[in-house]
Amino acid sequence: MTELTLPAAAAGKDGQAAATAIQDGQAAATAIQDDRAAADGQPAGPIQPTNSPQPAAPPEPLGQQPDWPDAERLDQVVAQLAALPPLVFAGECDLLRTRMAAVTRGEAFVLQGGDCAETFAGATADAVRGKLQTILQMAVVLTYGASVPIVKIGRLAGQFAKPRSRPTEIRDGVELPAYRGDAVNGFEFTSAARTPDPDRLLRAYHSAAVTLNLCRAFTTGGYADLHQVHAWNQDFVRQSPSGQRYEGLAREIERALSFMRACGADPEELRTVEFYSSHEALLLPYERALTRVDPASGGAYDLSAHFLWIGERTRELNGAHVDFASTIRNPIGVKLGPTTTPDGLRRLVRKLSPDGEPGRLTLITRLGAGRIRALLPPLIEAVTAEGIPVAWVCDPMHGNTFEAPSGHKTRHLQDILDEVQGFFEVHRSLGTHPGGIHIEFTGDNVTECVGGSHAIIAEDLPQRYETACDPRLNRSQSLDLAFTVAESYRR
Ligand code: PEP
Ligand code: CO
Repeated sequence: MTELTLPAAAAGKDGQAAATAIQDGQAAATAIQDDRAAADGQPAGPIQPTNSPQPAAPPEPLGQQPDWPDAERLDQVVAQLAALPPLVFAGECDLLRTRMAAVTRGEAFVLQGGDCAETFAGATADAVRGKLQTILQMAVVLTYGASVPIVKIGRLAGQFAKPRSRPTEIRDGVELPAYRGDAVNGFEFTSAARTPDPDRLLRAYHSAAVTLNLCRAFTTGGYADLHQVHAWNQDFVRQSPSGQRYEGLAREIERALSFMRACGADPEELRTVEFYSSHEALLLPYERALTRVDPASGGAYDLSAHFLWIGERTRELNGAHVDFASTIRNPIGVKLGPTTTPDGLRRLVRKLSPDGEPGRLTLITRLGAGRIRALLPPLIEAVTAEGIPVAWVCDPMHGNTFEAPSGHKTRHLQDILDEVQGFFEVHRSLGTHPGGIHIEFTGDNVTECVGGSHAIIAEDLPQRYETACDPRLNRSQSLDLAFTVAESYRR
């Protein structure tokens, strides 16, 4: 795998700590290989994980699965997936777990984001670069503004499946299966496109591989070098008020870098970025096919991504998704909507993190701007009473969606900022750590959410409404959010 190095923006004291931890991680990986070599008398080489078996009868309920018309083909596809190489390595997942442990302890902040639903057509160099630019720009704003190391996780390279509120969609009296993401069916409203096709799972794997390859190249091949801080502020975003504000910050960073260089310091750590992938673990046949046993530890890892989360619609305690997540060693997350009860959450946390290992479990609340201040405190109190450390992350997107007069699903940046504000207020009042944000954005100049310093109004929505699912922040709105979060964090 590519060498993971220090997040560019996390230089200085925190950076050194992070670099040491990474070196430890590498040393640990080497040690594992050496042990194996000693044990079986073979030269040390990459560890070959083995597949973990698909369960004979998955636990019920198994929610949000497509109605695959061709079960036999699904089995064949799953067998092919199980024979393909892992997309990420167990050691990388372990490293992310240590990063999330730092978040849990209040020593780092997570920035997790990307498309609501990635598409196969969207796996292009330009689109992936645009999303990475957005994350890098936001991370710089947050690191510089809040003086905290940022753990960067893309909702990227695998976010191809969507849970739906309704299994079908009706248009002009015609009822067809709902679009469930490119891993399942096509977006086009025709019977052929909407019929679930197991071969799409293979395309999802390959699109994830291509995307991840681009991410690895961009983040380690010079593009994410902090000296490029100006270059990330390209195109349309440079003209927006938040782009201008970013420009000022980038100038300050450049001055600091010149100063360091003049002092003879030009640390290698500023030249690459540590970046992780994540998606919702929704399609269990796919996730199980990519779950492999790490021979070194004997643990099972879902190697389709570094971090997997369970969605709001599939978090039943005895459901198949929670059961699956409880069997893998990756760092995992759970989305928590307004119906979450403190008691239910205590049971869920016990099941998903029985050892209470810091970094294992992240709770992603998506309660809505109007309700977070009332609903979040009892949830935090319940988990605190349970004594299991978790990272708390705010998803200010999914509780704030509404329909514009034009019929477009949208979100108001003001509500998103308000939910984040509420998240900070509640954690501050309870003495817990507001550990990060989980957002939906794109690198393009879309018009899907309203508001922002470069204001988009409801009438603008049809101009560039391109999402395959939920409305995303555009780059300028994402920067607006980053500046506000940095200010709130510092307070
Ligand atoms: C999502 O993250 O796109 C999503 C569907 O979220 P939730 O499970 O929180 O509704
Ligand atoms: Co969404």
